[in-house]
Amino acid sequence: MKVGIEAIAFYCPEHYIELVDLANARGVDPDKFTKGLGQLKMAVATPMEDTVTLAINAGLKVLKNFNIDPNDIGTLVVGTESGVDHSKPVAVYVHEALGLRSNCHTYETKHACFGAMAAVSSASDWISCGRAEGSKALIVASDIARYPVGDPGEPTQGAGAVAMIISDKPNLLYFDPEIIGNYTKHVMDFWRPLYSKTAFVDGHYSIDCYLNALEGALTDALAKATVPELYKMDKLQACIYHVPFAKMAAKAHHRHFEVDKGEKIDKESEKFADVKKSFNEKTGPWLSLNAIVGNIYTGSLFLSLIDLLRNNTSADLKQISMFSYGSGCAASMSIAYPTPGFEKFKDKINPEPELTARRKLSIDEYENIMKISDSLDIGEAEEFSADEWDLTSDFLYLGSKNHIRQYEGL
Ligand code: CAA
Repeated sequence: MKVGIEAIAFYCPEHYIELVDLANARGVDPDKFTKGLGQLKMAVATPMEDTVTLAINAGLKVLKNFNIDPNDIGTLVVGTESGVDHSKPVAVYVHEALGLRSNCHTYETKHACFGAMAAVSSASDWISCGRAEGSKALIVASDIARYPVGDPGEPTQGAGAVAMIISDKPNLLYFDPEIIGNYTKHVMDFWRPLYSKTAFVDGHYSIDCYLNALEGALTDALAKATVPELYKMDKLQACIYHVPFAKMAAKAHHRHFEVDKGEKIDKESEKFADVKKSFNEKTGPWLSLNAIVGNIYTGSLFLSLIDLLRNNTSADLKQISMFSYGSGCAASMSIAYPTPGFEKFKDKINPEPELTARRKLSIDEYENIMKISDSLDIGEAEEFSADEWDLTSDFLYLGSKNHIRQYEGL
């Protein structure tokens, strides 16, 4: 049985800022953000958009665009590291809003940015072992990435949700069950204590942890393969990675290339031209959505996947690698096969129209939103109106009454 992604959709907040504007406001050379980090725009969630509303909107979109009956969903998992409650999962709000059946297996996963990939692999196992009995899994990766204003991490924020249907009718892509390499290590590279709204991060160390995890997961995947040669880089038409910022994927591909070739290749070495060529063919072209959305934590690998699928045909893509990284840390490297004919669904997965319709904020407006967001969730009643925030979505966070979050449409 082939198991993989039958349907996918991305939902983005309705506002963004330009990173050139942010650089100017912070007194930084704009090239640092646009070329050094590879980021051009950053999605900004208003106080009425949270992990729940992003997840609901993405879930509704995937069901509607691919005409999937909510009664066919037997497992619902939301992967997030920016949930709204220490106990009640985002997934239960999504379950209600989407009208899923009451015997749906519903829960939330957390392991930093790895939460959604962990859910995808568990759901694939649930289907492969036969327990799904024809049902499908809905996995939603939903996050709002936040660092303090003025922090080095600030230009690597973002927000959005990717919803995926995992089933035994993988119209878009199926996974190689043999090739999933894993890596886990206790590191303090990025974390968010219960009392903090913004992440703490040891930025440069986090990059090292990510790259070491990539090497560990790839080595494990190749060790598990019966015929490792089948998964060498020259057999892969695309290599996609977790993308906290676009330039990180270039660093990731560099390390992937080194492990594949079994040698260290410095940037000064002549062989670095081969690394760059390989990056430009297999990874670079599929970062354009990440560059205008920002880090969406659990969903960022899948946003790059959407970019890959919307820009290719079955003739170009036979075999790809997918690397997921979650700080703290855990990682996986898997091999997947785009399904012949996947290009039929290009229009359904392309988020370009919604991204183009977003409204640009000034840096003052963005800072005001961050200030309000920081003052929320302290146990006091809150109330918002969609007009105030220039929002059109049907599912919005309305505020909190008696410590209960209120949502439009729920
Ligand atoms: N023109 C062009 N490039 C410039 C430049 C200029 N004027 N000025 C600087 N640069 C380049 C630098 O050379 C550097 O590139 P290289 O890494 O290729 O050398 C790049 O711009 C960034 O410059 P710095 O390293 O000086 O930037 P910084 O110290 O201010 O912060 C950061 C960078 C550490 C990534 C910071 O943004 C951060 O902490 N981000 C959050 C953490 C993160 O995303 N970590 C990634 C791995 S962990 C993970 O993946 C989990 C997750 O989702 C968070």
